Amino acid sequence: MRQKIVAGNWKMNNDLNESVTLINEIKESLVEREDVKVIIAPTFIALDKASQLLSGTNIGLSAQNMCSEDSGAFTGAISANMIKSVGCEYVILGHSERRTIFGETDKLVNAKIKKAIAKNLTPIFCIGETLEERESGEMKNVIEKQVREGLDGISETDLAGTIVAYEPVWAIGTGKVATPEQAQEVHAFIRNLLKEMYSEELAENTTIQYGGSVKPENATELIGQNDIDGALVGGACLKADSFVAIIKNA
Ligand code: PGA
Repeated sequence: MRQKIVAGNWKMNNDLNESVTLINEIKESLVEREDVKVIIAPTFIALDKASQLLSGTNIGLSAQNMCSEDSGAFTGAISANMIKSVGCEYVILGHSERRTIFGETDKLVNAKIKKAIAKNLTPIFCIGETLEERESGEMKNVIEKQVREGLDGISETDLAGTIVAYEPVWAIGTGKVATPEQAQEVHAFIRNLLKEMYSEELAENTTIQYGGSVKPENATELIGQNDIDGALVGGACLKADSFVAIIKNA
């Protein structure tokens, strides 16, 4: 059976002190559940401290991005080994903000996923369509292209364990959540695609999170859908009470 995973993507929020406060608040109020894995993704500058604060808990630590290269003249970039050295086990790759604001292509996302897997990091591979793509009827083509190109050249053995996050771009940070039916439809489509590309076993075992305006009030219904295995939470993970409530409601 695949695991339910709720992850909090802090994005560019919280300085070091604020990060420490939020982590401590989450630790205090979270009742850990065996059936839901919790992951947080603070900014790079807080990862080292976060890893110390999380030791002894089951909360996983993720980076929000990384470079596809190992080292060298890549000003401002952070490598897989660097995030591992501060305790990360996961890394968010291909987030729509990286794609739209920073111009990341499917090809680059693919290189990053390969690098993460080679370094024993678990990718949280994000995909999703814009409103324009949905309304023009291109949604499934867009998702299929992102999945096929993002996973190009990755074997079934290597892909096992990778987390997929379906995040419709129009639902991110907008308060406009996909209906459970809309999200379920795309999740089932992605799972079927994985079955076609790999195998039924891989498809059945892959956790596919939903992301886009997830809140305590909509988490139960969304995560209650057959093919929705958790959430990647942005805005609502910046307050311990709402993040913990989402986990409780998952
Ligand atoms: P949101 O962000 O929950 O604020 O919509 C989700 C995400 O971008 O991962």
